[in-house]
Amino acid sequence: MAEHTPDRRLVLIGGGGHALVVAEAAQNLGWQIAGFYDDDPASTLASRTGLPRLGGLREAAGEVRIVIAVGGLELRRTVIDALREQRLIAATVCAPGSHVAPSASIAGGVFIGPGAIVHSHASIAAHGIINSGAIVEHECMLAENVHIAPGAALGGRVTVGADTLIGLGSRTLPGIRIGHGCTIGSGAVVIRDVPDGATVVGVPAREKLKAQISKLK
Ligand SMILES: CC(C)(COP(=O)(O)OP(=O)(O)OC[C@H]1O[C@@H](n2cnc3c(N)ncnc32)[C@H](O)[C@@H]1OP(=O)(O)O)[C@@H](O)C(=O)NCCC(=O)NCCS
Repeated sequence: MAEHTPDRRLVLIGGGGHALVVAEAAQNLGWQIAGFYDDDPASTLASRTGLPRLGGLREAAGEVRIVIAVGGLELRRTVIDALREQRLIAATVCAPGSHVAPSASIAGGVFIGPGAIVHSHASIAAHGIINSGAIVEHECMLAENVHIAPGAALGGRVTVGADTLIGLGSRTLPGIRIGHGCTIGSGAVVIRDVPDGATVVGVPAREKLKAQISKLK
């Protein structure tokens, strides 16, 4: 295996499609990706990049600096909780071409994709994903493990609870409060607050009953 400068050594937790994006951005920023952890020996990252698989998802105990690159929020939550006790440093990766206002607060483990904007005094808690081209406007507050999918936009002062997916291309009006464990459907326009655990779709966004939704995320 290639030698790595210790303070630039990074491993990814997860080796699927989202990990491809995180790995490429991190390498462009000068991180040396030593490999990844995934339960699947035939992970996309191995076949597409040749990066070595170092073990299963929960086996990163001896590592120093990691970024969780699993895409699905439920699995991310499992990994976050499993690794919490291990005092790993969670690296923040802001892809080239993203814009983060100097006054914004970005916690460890956050990934900000190319073309994404995080505006003035916004706050992104640990392990969030602000994906390609997403917009998080001024003073938004995002709790841990929130995913703002590609092209989605949050108006100013929106709050989002933990483990919530804001779907592809959706729009959320300023000041809206979205709970934890929610799914905002792709293309939705959110004009009212969203309670914990709700899935909303459409324009304007309305709650779908769980019975109508076969698979939440
Ligand atoms: C809302 C969502 C979670 C529902 O997923 P699902 O459980 O697989 O839902 P289904 O495809 O079985 O559809 C269930 C019903 O909801 C409707 N529906 C699903 N997604 C919808 C959407 N985004 N907007 C409007 N209606 C939607 C379907 O038409 C269907 O309606 P019907 O019961 O009248 O036929 C999903 O469609 C979605 O939008 N996910 C966001 C994905 C995303 O952005 N991921 C990030 C990738 S980086």
